[in-house]
Amino acid sequence: MRILFVCLGNICRSPSAEGVFRHVLASRAPELQVEIDSAGTHDYHIGSPPDRRSIAAAKRRGIDLSSLRARLVAAEDFTHYDLILAMDDENLQELRRRSPAAQHHRIRLMMEFAPQAASRHVPDPYYGGAQGFEEVLDLLEEAAEGLLAELFRLDAKR
Ligand code: 4NP
Repeated sequence: MRILFVCLGNICRSPSAEGVFRHVLASRAPELQVEIDSAGTHDYHIGSPPDRRSIAAAKRRGIDLSSLRARLVAAEDFTHYDLILAMDDENLQELRRRSPAAQHHRIRLMMEFAPQAASRHVPDPYYGGAQGFEEVLDLLEEAAEGLLAELFRLDAKR
């Protein structure tokens, strides 16, 4: 199973999603073979580490994002990854616009995996305050539970 998390800049939400889900897999399902990465739809921050506010907020939850570097979504991603999880509708639409219709089934919203959550989207925290970064992690942790449950279901069917 290969999963790509996608947001706009690949410095706040999607690297946080990558870190949260790596952490969940390492602690709860080390036996699952899952390849994970994250990418952005825009090129503003290519090569940069995650935003220092994302790094700090994740660190407080025991998650280290410091070695991640931003990259742009590439054409090959649409065939390589089984699941491409967008943080919001804008990212989702952009991914669909850039990919062949035959690959659209792979592209979904991250928060689909937490139907009970307060939000359908992971809101962009970039221009807001520290609370926004905590909210991003809260939402991602909720969605990560649903995503893990889905991977267990798929694994059981194999
Ligand atoms: P992200 O947040 O999409 O969660 O990485 C953003 C990062 C940078 C910008 C916007 C959102 N920006 O406009 O530079």
